[in-house]
Amino acid sequence: MVFQVIISLAVNHQRMNSKFFSSCGWSVKKLHSKEVIKNALILISKIYDFQGDLKELDNHIVNLYRTNPERAGEYYDKLNNSKGIMILFKDKIKFKSLLNLYNFHGHEIQIKFTNFQCLVMLPNKSNENLGWHQDSKYFSKDLKTKYSGVIWTPFCTNNLKSKFNLDILENSHISGGIKHKKNKSMFRKEVINEKKGRYFIDNEKKLNFYSKLSPSVNWGESLIINSNLIHKSSNDFSENIRFTAIWRYEIIY
Ligand SMILES: [Fe+2]
Repeated sequence: MVFQVIISLAVNHQRMNSKFFSSCGWSVKKLHSKEVIKNALILISKIYDFQGDLKELDNHIVNLYRTNPERAGEYYDKLNNSKGIMILFKDKIKFKSLLNLYNFHGHEIQIKFTNFQCLVMLPNKSNENLGWHQDSKYFSKDLKTKYSGVIWTPFCTNNLKSKFNLDILENSHISGGIKHKKNKSMFRKEVINEKKGRYFIDNEKKLNFYSKLSPSVNWGESLIINSNLIHKSSNDFSENIRFTAIWRYEIIY
C-alpha cells in the first residue's frame, strides 16, 4: 500500500515536471492594470517628497541624486520598504494569469510571495546593472523550489509607449542552479556589464550554449521568469528613469 502511494506521487511529480520543463522559462503577461502603475508612481512621488506634476518626477529624482545623494539613498531605502507599493503589486495581481503558466494537471498549487524590491534605474546609467546571473543565487533563502519565479514589472513616468528589455538565455533554467563567481564589493560596479553585480556566471561554455533573447515588455506588462533562468540587465539606455517592481515567489505543491 505504502509502495503504491509513493509510485502515484512520483508519477504526478513527473507529469508536473514535463509541462514545466517543456516551457522556455519565461513569459510576458499583463498582470497589472494602468491604475496600479499610476498609483505606484503617486506613492513613489510621496516617498521622494515631490508634489509637482508626475511628468517632472524624473527631473526631481535625477537632481536629488546629483545634489544630495545621501538623501536620495535614504528615499531609495524607504521605497524598498514601502508596504503600500508592495501590496499594490501583490493584491491586484491577476493570479489566474500567473497560475496558467503552471499546468500541474489538476494538482493543487499555491503561490507564496517571498521577496519584493522596487528598483530605480537612472537614465543613461549602467552602474546598477547586473551581469549574467540567476535570481535563485541572489535570493537562495526565498526561492527554494525549482518552480519558483520572478515577476519583473518595469515602468516609467511619461512615455506610455516605452518598451523595456531584459537579456535572457532561453531554457537555461532547466539545468537548475549554476555556480556563480563573487565580485569584490569595491569592483562590482566597475567591471564589464556581463560581470557586474555581487555574483555573476563566468562559464563561457554554458553562456554560449543557450540562445540569447531580449524580450520586450510594454509599459504595464510583466516579464515572468523561472528563478533559475540565466539573465542580465540589457544594455539599452533610456532617457527616462526606469522603475521596476519585482515580486519573487515560490510555488508550493
Ligand atoms: Fe535578476
